[in-house]
Amino acid sequence: MTHSSTDNIVQTLENWILGARAGVKLPTSRELVEEYSVSPVTVRNAIHVLSEKGLVEVRPGVGVFTKPHRAARVADYGWQAGALGALQNDLPVITPAQKTGSPDVIALNNGYPDEALLPTDQIRRTMVKVSKEPDSLKRSPVRGLPELQNWFSHQVECSPRDVLIVNGTQSGLTAIFRSVVGNGQPLLVESPTYWGAILAAKQSSIVLHPVTSDEEGPKTEDVEKTLKSTGARVFYAQPHYANPHGRSWSQKRKAEILELVRKHDTFLIEDDWAHDFWFNRSHTPIANQDADGHVIYLRSLTKSVSPAVRVGAVIARGPVLHRITAHAAAEAMYTSSLLQRVALHIVSSNAWNKHLNSVRRELKQRRDDLLDALRSKAPEVTVNHIPAGGLNLWCEVEESIDVEKLAQVSESNGLLISPGQGWFPTDPTGSFFRLNFAGSRSENFSEAAESLHRAISEIRQ
Ligand SMILES: Cc1ncc(COP(=O)(O)O)c(C=O)c1O
Repeated sequence: MTHSSTDNIVQTLENWILGARAGVKLPTSRELVEEYSVSPVTVRNAIHVLSEKGLVEVRPGVGVFTKPHRAARVADYGWQAGALGALQNDLPVITPAQKTGSPDVIALNNGYPDEALLPTDQIRRTMVKVSKEPDSLKRSPVRGLPELQNWFSHQVECSPRDVLIVNGTQSGLTAIFRSVVGNGQPLLVESPTYWGAILAAKQSSIVLHPVTSDEEGPKTEDVEKTLKSTGARVFYAQPHYANPHGRSWSQKRKAEILELVRKHDTFLIEDDWAHDFWFNRSHTPIANQDADGHVIYLRSLTKSVSPAVRVGAVIARGPVLHRITAHAAAEAMYTSSLLQRVALHIVSSNAWNKHLNSVRRELKQRRDDLLDALRSKAPEVTVNHIPAGGLNLWCEVEESIDVEKLAQVSESNGLLISPGQGWFPTDPTGSFFRLNFAGSRSENFSEAAESLHRAISEIRQ
């Protein structure tokens, strides 16, 4: 009889527990004795059984509580297929350049410099210091902190009022594409060009029109012809150390393109992402030559200060800045004042120029080390242009090699590279891939080149 009473109460309580959340208190022993008309011994035995089954936790002097007990229910997301409907575009969730690997992987896919090239200790100290400043936790004005706008205005010849601080220039690009180019409208781009610009444009269903380039930059006649034939009002470009290939426009070509955008009443988006990363000679932004608001200038601090300090600027003159600001504010409202203050402290400190000089020396050395490693260990890889700035080598292999496959095989051997397709606004013109020499140290380059060589040989078989 006692045995069966215990079973009954165990069964009843088990059902109750399975329907309850974890951490819920069970009725007291006295309440259970009364409710089930059983003896205190029966209740004690039942609690013991439930505890053995891992369903309850007995906290002496406090009570008995339900434990997390149920295996997670397999969720049914099938309904979302209908609710979400057709895909608006084919944006990847994570691009090859954004992949992260385990610490033992050699990552030459990433676009950001490693810790050794960043003022890491200074940033840590500055974050603590800045957090104690009276206004550091207040909301930033929509266009950014006046002191930081002022700093950016000295980087290009403009007024602080022409500066909009953004959460990294990627969000600046999105705001420009939405507000200035417009959904579904044409946009001129170089080919290849920055994958993030391609994705931001696709997000707004913008139609990309590549223009052809030569050694000096985009061909002026082709830009003019394409502006006319497409009716595009905007040309997105990287005149200095372009990502991915590291080429820069000649002075003559810069002047011609600026003249052309003036003549056609159009905008040039000058993405000066590598402004801090020249190896031999600094450069002057095209925006400096622009008096009438044709150039929308982008300048990022995330690669020279820190990827964790996501601060960049859009600099534009005239009503166009209001349009861009409206979109940026609709998306993000404002940029963290804490991060803006950290960035400002770093770039206006005495140590900043010294830091940049040593970064440039180290980047140039890494570029040379990676080139040497490729020449000696992976001779099938061609680098057509040796960049005088930036963070990347744009590599080519024979056309029959599928670079997606090359990236897969390399990854399985512990090397991450970025296959080139993502940098082409339309069709890739060869088997290209990008190697970044800033995110990994020179001592890894020899192993990386050997790994590439092995992967290429494997694919050829
Ligand atoms: C050419 C170019 N433009 C813009 C960006 C965006 O940089 P961020 O959003 O970190 O400022 C990148 C990042 O890799 C880039 O390579």
